[in-house]
Amino acid sequence: MNNRFTIVAICASLLLTCSCCADKQQARDFDPPIMGWSSWNYFKTNISEEVICGQADALISTGLADAGYIYVNIDDGFTDGRGEDGRIRIDTTKFPNGMKAVADYIHSIGLKAGMYSDAGDNTCASLNVKPYGLGVGLYGHEVQDCKMMFDEWGYDFFKVDNCGGRHLDLNEQEQFTKIAEALAQCDNKHINFNVCRWVFPGTWVREIADSWRTTHDIWVDWGSVKTIIKENMYTVAYCGDGHYNDLDMLEIGMGFPPEVERTHMACWCIQSSPLVVGCDLYKMPDYSIEFLKNADLIAMDQDRLGIAAPVVQKDGEVYVFAKDMERFYGPKRAVVVSNLGDAPATIDVSLQALGFEGAVKVYDCFSHSDREELCGSDYFTLEIAPHDSEALFVTGKRIEKSVYQGEEAFLNAYTEINDQDYEAYRRPYEIPSPRYWESPTADLGLYATLLGGWEENWLEWQRVYSMDGGDYAMTVRYACADSRDMTISVNGEDVQCLTGLNSGGDLDWQEVTAKVTLNKGWNAVRLSNPAAPMPSIDYMTLKKFE
Ligand code: GLA
Repeated sequence: MNNRFTIVAICASLLLTCSCCADKQQARDFDPPIMGWSSWNYFKTNISEEVICGQADALISTGLADAGYIYVNIDDGFTDGRGEDGRIRIDTTKFPNGMKAVADYIHSIGLKAGMYSDAGDNTCASLNVKPYGLGVGLYGHEVQDCKMMFDEWGYDFFKVDNCGGRHLDLNEQEQFTKIAEALAQCDNKHINFNVCRWVFPGTWVREIADSWRTTHDIWVDWGSVKTIIKENMYTVAYCGDGHYNDLDMLEIGMGFPPEVERTHMACWCIQSSPLVVGCDLYKMPDYSIEFLKNADLIAMDQDRLGIAAPVVQKDGEVYVFAKDMERFYGPKRAVVVSNLGDAPATIDVSLQALGFEGAVKVYDCFSHSDREELCGSDYFTLEIAPHDSEALFVTGKRIEKSVYQGEEAFLNAYTEINDQDYEAYRRPYEIPSPRYWESPTADLGLYATLLGGWEENWLEWQRVYSMDGGDYAMTVRYACADSRDMTISVNGEDVQCLTGLNSGGDLDWQEVTAKVTLNKGWNAVRLSNPAAPMPSIDYMTLKKFE
């Protein structure tokens, strides 16, 4: 405990330094993804006041807090059932001074504190470490629990799981919305809300949460990291305006080799995921601390645009992700090139695919230096070891994006929750929700499908940019095995209904072209058919008429 006094002093100076970060943050319209530490990955339910306060101290002593990791999130395992008054009881063998004392300590050293619960009756620990988690979920106690955790105890972040919700077969949209409403009733108006139900919940989640998990739990295994990266190749459209896909807590510092940690960190950062460290902070290898503190990658993650990066080029198992930084269509882009395969690979990265023409400047986010050898042609060649990644800032003259992939489009009715989802959208059971599917026949390996058939089931590219506005040839690559129709709309106006589309097979791709007029700046281009299924969509291209 002694060193805590020193730490309070260090923190006072940290807070002073941080007031300038606060100024910078005011320049943006929304908060960046959260950064911090969580107890689950390493400690599971073996947590206590000592563990949590000790890890909070370590965020400071390792310099991670200074780098931006300021949340200390207590996950499952601090409860001991509910009292007769309905109030959650705390496990006082682990937390003898209660949960407020822990939040107070975390705040006293300049950090923020996070809480955990479940949308249903039990938390997830109830599944395998009973009695933890039985009867302590939010269901039926939404307002009572939220007021206790956020007004009485003063926590700042809330992760809400769904094991109890699933157990009770709750309608998730309704229950998570009810929880958001309970949070809104708290006097504490700065609660960061994370929905954790292990698949993309549905577009409704953007309305109620700051971030949401998109996959099952991460573990210390390359396959787990790779699966999460691949599944988030098609969640890009849902990230924006301060709402983020949560790729799950970081396993950095838990025993991965450096190349996997480079990929893990770079991919989480280019997708603007929350960065929540999951290891024992006293046991991290030096290289892990270095990756976590990498200021260039953190800048990529926390960038003020708050967007995720689509795949812009693919060669075998090597994927190139790119997103704007600092300013939409400004000169600087973040680029991550990941070799998800098990063999060394070489890739020629196309500047056109990255959105540039002419000379570019390439800066390496791992060596923190310029890569002059990569400049001077219309492509650059990278050799990448298995499971490794390059992370770059590329700066140069921008060209208009001309290819918009199906997998980067916003699918309005997209959800991976099946059963409850049918009810939530009140649509007939026989109509499945839209999906992004993998196929080697599709450009970049992915396409959007199961579209149309009811009013809400449309696809939209919501950030179509035209430098000067004007008339374009819009070519759509589609597939369907029978005759189908779809309407193209631009900025809410129907432009053309394409009828009788039939490519002869579900994966036999064909092209159809229509004329569209784009405004200067941003446009939304939608494909829809409320009455009947639409073709699958691989991509659309835009070419300006001379
Ligand atoms: C689920 C979540 C994990 C963790 C555990 C706690 O599995 O996805 O992140 O919170 O529950 O029991």
